[in-house]
Amino acid sequence: MQDELRTIEEQALKEITGAASSQQLEEIRLKYFGKKGVVTQYSRTLGTLSPEERPLAGKLINNLRGRLEEALENRQQELESLEAAAKFERERLDVELPGRRPRRGHPHPLQLIIDEITMTFLGMGFSVAEGPEVELDFYNFEALNIPPEHPAREMHDSLYITDNMLLRTHTSPVQVRTMEKLYPNPVRIIVPGRVYRRDALDATHSPIFHQIEGLLVDKGVTFGDLKGVLTVFVRKFFGEDRQVRLRPSFFPFTEPSAEVDVSCVCRGEGCRICKNTGWIEILGAGSVHPKVLAMAKYDPEIYSGFAFGMGVERIAMLRYGISDIRQFYENDFRLLSQFH
Ligand code: PHE
Repeated sequence: MQDELRTIEEQALKEITGAASSQQLEEIRLKYFGKKGVVTQYSRTLGTLSPEERPLAGKLINNLRGRLEEALENRQQELESLEAAAKFERERLDVELPGRRPRRGHPHPLQLIIDEITMTFLGMGFSVAEGPEVELDFYNFEALNIPPEHPAREMHDSLYITDNMLLRTHTSPVQVRTMEKLYPNPVRIIVPGRVYRRDALDATHSPIFHQIEGLLVDKGVTFGDLKGVLTVFVRKFFGEDRQVRLRPSFFPFTEPSAEVDVSCVCRGEGCRICKNTGWIEILGAGSVHPKVLAMAKYDPEIYSGFAFGMGVERIAMLRYGISDIRQFYENDFRLLSQFH
């Protein structure tokens, strides 16, 4: 029996020192000391021995148990520190490694232009008003003195939702909506917003684009006030050295009406931007038509006003030297990321 125990001990010690993980070591522990373990089974045979043999055998087995348990304990500690070191290595942090910065968002170029124009007018005491993109025929046309036979009213020019409802073709309906709300107070608003026309998308047209409308109504407002306000705007936005030119034009909701030009950067020398004219058209404007004032209850004998409307894309194209309107809508990161 002594020899047998020695063989068991040698074998067990070899296995214990060779255990590569706590889990393996646990399996070895069970192999020897589990319910059906080698040493456990040996202890059970003690009962079959004679009373003289028993004490010595018991002692031998106990000693073996003691040595193996010590070996298991030692190996266990070794493995634990090895495993802790490996875990530490695995989870090691390089605290000096530069962080991965999240990409920062930034406004769309059209939004930048809208914000900049808005700020200029806020500085002159205007406030921002908004209106619905799905608009009643009444506000989009009728209240703006646009006659039934006007081409914009045709199905093939506007996007109708129902007989009397359409996607607004300009921001001008917000003129009347705001006057209705503010009557009889003075009105001084700008209206940035999205507008819709039944146009095919090409380099200079888009079925969806943006406008900024302006409206000022008060007692004693003149056409000269319009020119003054627009001149301040043009000089702030395009540069102090720019000139403003008004050309007679026609809109059903303003009388008189004008097309407003800004002098070109080429100072009249002629370039591609102004097509050698020295002037660039930037907006439509005029004195608010008496019928439009009356439609919103403002007595045209007492009140007068001016209105203007400009295309945001057009101005953004001038400002950023973009020649194709589609670039604003394609969300090409190479373009967008230039506008920080
Ligand atoms: N609503 C006109 C357009 O879309 C622009 C405009 C606005 C003209 C206000 C005069 C006054 O073309």
